[in-house]
Parts: sequence; C-alpha cells; structure tokens
Amino acid sequence: MAELPKYDVVSIEDLSLDDIERVFTLADEFAAALSEKRPLNLASGLIMATLFYEPSTRTRLSFESAMHRLGGSVISSAEMAASSAAKGESLADTVRVVSAYADLIVVRHPYDGAARVAAEYAPCPVFNAGDGSREHPTQTLCDLYVLLKKKGHLKGLTVAICGDLTFGRTVHSLIYALARFGANIVAVPNRGMAVPDYVLARLAAERGYSFSTVTMSELKSLAGGLDALYLTPSAPHQMALFTADMPLDAIRTGGEAPVALDAFYVTRFQHERRAPGERERPEYVHFDAGALKTSRTQEAVVMHPLPRTDELAYELDSDPRAIYFEQAAAGVPVRMALIAWLLENAGKPRTRPEPEQPLIRFRVGTAPRCANANCITRHEGRYLHARFRLAPAVNRTVLMLRCEFCEREVKVEYVGHARSRRYYRFDEGLYGYVRQWIDEQSLVIFDDVKQAEESGYGPYRRGPQREVMNADEIARATGALAAQMIADLPDLAAVSLLGVVSRGAVLAMRLRELIRSQTGIAPPCAALDVHTGPEGLHPLDGSESFEVEDRTIVLVDDVINSGWTVQRAMATLWKRGRPAAVKVAVLIDRGHRAIPIRANYVGKNIPTARAERVMVRLGEHEAAAGQKPIDRVVIYSLVETLKQSGEAG
Ligand code: NCD
Repeated sequence: MAELPKYDVVSIEDLSLDDIERVFTLADEFAAALSEKRPLNLASGLIMATLFYEPSTRTRLSFESAMHRLGGSVISSAEMAASSAAKGESLADTVRVVSAYADLIVVRHPYDGAARVAAEYAPCPVFNAGDGSREHPTQTLCDLYVLLKKKGHLKGLTVAICGDLTFGRTVHSLIYALARFGANIVAVPNRGMAVPDYVLARLAAERGYSFSTVTMSELKSLAGGLDALYLTPSAPHQMALFTADMPLDAIRTGGEAPVALDAFYVTRFQHERRAPGERERPEYVHFDAGALKTSRTQEAVVMHPLPRTDELAYELDSDPRAIYFEQAAAGVPVRMALIAWLLENAGKPRTRPEPEQPLIRFRVGTAPRCANANCITRHEGRYLHARFRLAPAVNRTVLMLRCEFCEREVKVEYVGHARSRRYYRFDEGLYGYVRQWIDEQSLVIFDDVKQAEESGYGPYRRGPQREVMNADEIARATGALAAQMIADLPDLAAVSLLGVVSRGAVLAMRLRELIRSQTGIAPPCAALDVHTGPEGLHPLDGSESFEVEDRTIVLVDDVINSGWTVQRAMATLWKRGRPAAVKVAVLIDRGHRAIPIRANYVGKNIPTARAERVMVRLGEHEAAAGQKPIDRVVIYSLVETLKQSGEAG
C-alpha cells in the first residue's frame, strides 16, 4: 500500500500550474472511467477522513464518492459539533489523533487559516475543503476544469465574478488562480461586498494586476450594450481587475476592440460569515437570462459554486450556457484526480520555493495578535500564536504585516527597536532599518503612541526638516543624469536600466523616457527589490523578461548612503546572469561611504552628516494640471540617532 506524500493543498497557490494541468489530465481519465463504469482500485487500502466543522453537501459527498470510486475507504465524523470539538478539543489535537486513523484528511472549518493549522499538525496530507472566508482550492479546481472544457483555454478569458466577494472563499481561490492563468477578472461586488484588500494587495504585489471597480448597474449597461467597456490590460501580464471608484471612462483606453465576457461566476450572500446583526440578506444580485442577451455576453457561460439561494434564476437551468451543475458533477473526477496526483507523487519530496519574506520573530511578550477576529489564531490561542511576515509591497510608504494563517494584512503605524527601547512612526525612510531589526530580532510594533509608551518605549525625535530640492531641481538633476549616461555609454542599444525599489524604480523609468526622447532608444527597464533575492526583479516596461547576460546594466537609485544597497543589488544581479558591465546612477550622492562604491553618474552632490537622513519623494505619475508635483527631497536628523542598529540603506 502506497504511503501518501505530505502534499497539503491549503491554498490554490500550493499547486503549480503544472500540477493543476496534471490534475485535469487525470480528471479526464477518471471521467471516462466513470462513464464506462470501469472499476478502479488505485486507492485500495487507503483511508480518507473528512472533518467538516461546517455544513456541506457537494464538497464532502464528492470527496467521499471520489475516494470510494478509487477503491479506498472513508471515515467521517458526521457532525464535528457531535465530536470532541464540542468538548473543547483543539484542532491540532483532533488532526493529530485522526491522522493515526487515516492516510488523508479533508477539513472544512469556519475559521480563516484553520486548514493551515491542520496541515501543520497532521503528519498526513491535508486538503482544505473551505476555511472561513479564506480559500476553497478544490472548488476552484472544479470551476477551472469545467471552464477550460467549455472555452478551450483560460489565458485571456474575461470572467465577471458577481455577488459576495468579501466572504466568498471560492471567489478568493478562483481569483488567485485566474490571475495565474492570465485571465481578465471583472469583479462585480454587491454593494459593500468588494474583494478584500488583502486579496487585492496580494494580486497587485505578486501578479501585477491593477484594479478599478464597476458597479452592478454599470455592468448592466455593459450587458445592455450601451457603453463600451474595454477590458484592456495596461501592460502585457498586467491584467485589469475592475473594482469600485473608477468611472468606466477612466478604464477605457481606446483603440481596441471591446472584449466580450466569457463567463459570469455568481455567488450567494454569505450570511453565516457576518456578525449576527448583519445577516439579513440585503438587496442582492439577481442573475437571469436577460444578462445573456447582448452581443458581448451571449457567449458567456454562467457558473456558481452552489448552493444557490435567490441570486440565480431557475429559468437559466435549461440554458446550455448554465454550467453550474457540471461544476458540481466535476467534483468527483476532479477530486479523484487530486487523490491520484498525491499517489503519483509518493516518495517525491515536495520542492517549494522559500517564502520571499523572512518570518518575523518577535521577542517574548511583544508578538502582536492577528487583527482578523475570525483568524484561527484568535480561537486556538492556547497553543497557537500569530505568525507574521512582511507583506510584499508595491511600494514602501506603508509597512504591512501578513498573518501566516489567515493572510490578512495589518498596517503597522508605529515601529520600535527592542534594544534601544525607542519607537517611531513608520515612514518609508525606515524600511531599511525595519528589515535590519527583523534580522536581528529586535522589531516591535505598536498600534499607537499610548501602547508604545505604556510598554516603556520613548520616542525617537526627529529634527526639523529642510527641503533641499524641489520638483524643478529634481527634473534638472534627472536631466543631467540622462545627459551623462548618453555621453558616456557608446552603445545605448546594449544598455538596460535597473531601478532599486522603490524610488530608484521610478527614477529609472524617468531616465528611460528622457533617453528615449533624446535618442529614440528606449532601454529595457526593470525594478529590483534588494530585500527579496533574485526573484525580486520585475520588468517595468511591459516586457516579459529582463536580460542581464552581456548587457550593460545601469543600476539606478535615488540616494547613495553607505553603498550597502548598491552592493546588495549587484550581488542579486549577478545571480541572474553575467552583465558586460555595471554602472551606478544616483540622483543624490551624500558623499560618504561605508564601502568603496562610487556612482558613475550623479544628479546632484549633497554633502550631509551621517546622522542626517535624506528622504526623496517622487510621484509615480506626472502631476495632473493644477496639481502640485509631490517631487521633493528633504533632509532631517534624528535627535536620537539610530546608532544602536547601525545605518541601513
Ligand atoms: C461553497 C462553500 O462552501 O464555500 N460551496 C461549495 O463548496 N460548493 C460556496 C458557498 O457555500 O456559498
């Protein structure tokens, strides 16, 4: 009897695209075997336990049917409320015990992140059958499998997801998967039920999706063919995920053919995930055949994870475009395929990339709790502590911590340094320090000043600010940089720009534009995050990849302080390939170094004292007419220097 490998499927992200494709191939085989009534015994001798702490029909019965069809057997606690959980047994203990009785555990739970906990404590593999409002990855496999069957491909499809996008866990897994397959996503939230920020932030940082919102009435006008909605990716790979607050006109980019919708994914109101006072169903989406009558929607299929309540008209059921019962039916072959995929991988250690961000180890007594009241860590606190990593950020103006279990992100307002017992309101100039404090395990975070002071921390004081460059001076210095580069670099066609996140990346794109306007050559341009290793390199110019081999790379940053950042950037760069040459361009050279690194191109020399801090602000976009540009450079000093932790940046 094969031993199942410890491959947990807690998030849809636990499966690579290859894994998903393999599961679909297997599902095809099992669908054929089922229709031919061919008996199978692949899982003979294996036992699956289903632990459902929440009601279920489809997910549980199709998992159980899948295991039986494969010749395996199933044990189940009919109602977890009737099990030891009712006596107060922890989830960790339950899964440890059950894994002595079964080879595979399928768990559904009302708390966000519960499946992650089960996976950590169970020695056998764990499949997440829905944890709170977080994810439901196996439902997504069924959804994608059927959608792919109907449309032949996933890349480039445009899928409108409607209803309760805040608490619908099937929605979250589906969005992550569609983004990975390169689909366009139109989010059509019911009023007040938008895709949560933590999901959007993750899509922006990890998949380069940009957002804006359409309301249901706007979608109706689209469906009515009154207004043209161009769902145009702003850059290859940068698909549009449309959410609230942006008028349709702003989305329209013109020139391209309007895109038809390929699918509607309708979801029910998740009353049970809301506070008792908010469970009354509000005015809610009602989807009927009318929405499928326009030229842009007539090819769309209608999907639903089921169960439906009132959001989907029964009259649709006989329409061949309604495929929700096929999604439900796919539950058996797809879940058989998932079990078979486990069996195929028996004996193969799972290789998974290390998370980009390190785990933050807080000192005893200083770990914050997760801000999400539905996070499993808030309910199983006897043995479980919240764990955080820095959330990958699009920029560094805010510091976000992401809970390892529920993935909710919390914004950090105040940071402290445990050894010097000083606290500081976070600003982007502190990012480098915070990274260092994480490495040396001295980061403390506070909600507010009161909490910091009650914990015995005193404020870092900041001296007066002095503006040393305004927008015009920055423009002049950037122009000077571009001119130096054009004069010095003989073959601009062999040059690529690499901006250090975050200000250096903005600067690199500006330099690219200046070089293009003066020479007609637009060098390839990418951003490099020195805190995330070789994966932290992302093209900024819309191209698929950024070549390093044999190129002349100009590393661009806003300020050269100690030289440490430049050194780290170079080390990262070399891991990606061997450039012909590396040059360094900085807007501001402060004139002192800890390591011997010299900039080749300098916008302006501003000699400063070591304890002074230089903060550069550069707007990502041109300031609109009548608006003041935000570009400026200020110098200030810390009255209390950060000398205990050395100098970052
Ligand atoms: C979904 C779930 O439980 O999240 N149901 C399912 O598994 N098909 C959707 C829902 O309950 O609305």
